[in-house]
Amino acid sequence: MSAIKTMKLYQHVERIYRELGELGKNADDPLTVEELSAFDQLHYHGTQALDIAMAMVGVEGEPRWLEIGSGLGGPARYLAAYSDARVTALELQADQHEIATSLTARCGLADRVEHVRGDILDFERPEGSYDAILSWLSLYHIKYRPLLLERCRQLLAPGGRFYTEDLTARRDIDEAHMQELERDLYAITLRRIDQYRQDLENAGFVVETCQSMSSSWAEFVRVRLAKFRADRARHLRVHGEAAVNAMTDFYSAVNRHFQAGRLGGLRLCAVKPGD
Ligand SMILES: C[S@@+](CC[C@H](N)C(=O)[O-])C[C@H]1O[C@@H](n2cnc3c(N)ncnc32)[C@H](O)[C@@H]1O
Repeated sequence: MSAIKTMKLYQHVERIYRELGELGKNADDPLTVEELSAFDQLHYHGTQALDIAMAMVGVEGEPRWLEIGSGLGGPARYLAAYSDARVTALELQADQHEIATSLTARCGLADRVEHVRGDILDFERPEGSYDAILSWLSLYHIKYRPLLLERCRQLLAPGGRFYTEDLTARRDIDEAHMQELERDLYAITLRRIDQYRQDLENAGFVVETCQSMSSSWAEFVRVRLAKFRADRARHLRVHGEAAVNAMTDFYSAVNRHFQAGRLGGLRLCAVKPGD
């Protein structure tokens, strides 16, 4: 098992097919982006968050966008469906990449969303290939922040935008809690918001928006856990005990780190200066 799979959200990824079964969908039935969006958004505040991102990066023309850490493909499909963008959806984990590719085909979006399996640190495309690079809750998994940002700067065209919603540290975190965060959330790089902004500036970006999401997300994860627990009987019927226990452990751990004031988050949009 690769290290990232210690994070229980990434176990039992076939849950999405059981949810589609509950909607009466058979294996190869066509799907819509709207039917999937309750299950394929692995970040906070679902597609509302994606509308905000599109407004910030701009949707004019037929932009070329790269999503880093595209999971089950939910954000990439929604971005493609609600704009004229062509989206490259880059995902590290093979199982999620394969599910994402198949769901995109069933939505009839295969000509607009290109799924690529790989690590952003090894991702090879010519300089200036993208008008925007977007990510939701992905970059905190990646160890080499300066290398990551340099790679993003190269991949962007001049004037292109870097947009992220990501987890942050709300204060300095001791070693024991960092180990828990790595085990529970595969948290590898947790920066404070001021450090995050500085990292972007050091990499040559001009930061346009940098806002704390900490309070909003703390409430989101509290309600998510309470709802999941309240619906346990339904979830057990659909997904079985192993998957439900894994998800309960995951939602509980995230909530505990947020409510303890260790974990927070940000929304950041920055531009690569023009030539
Ligand atoms: C919390 S999930 C979010 C998925 C998607 N952005 C969403 O909001 O639905 C983060 C994803 O980032 C992926 N990821 C982590 N490190 C990566 C890397 N170095 N390159 C590409 N993807 C990565 C993980 O495998 C995971 O699927």
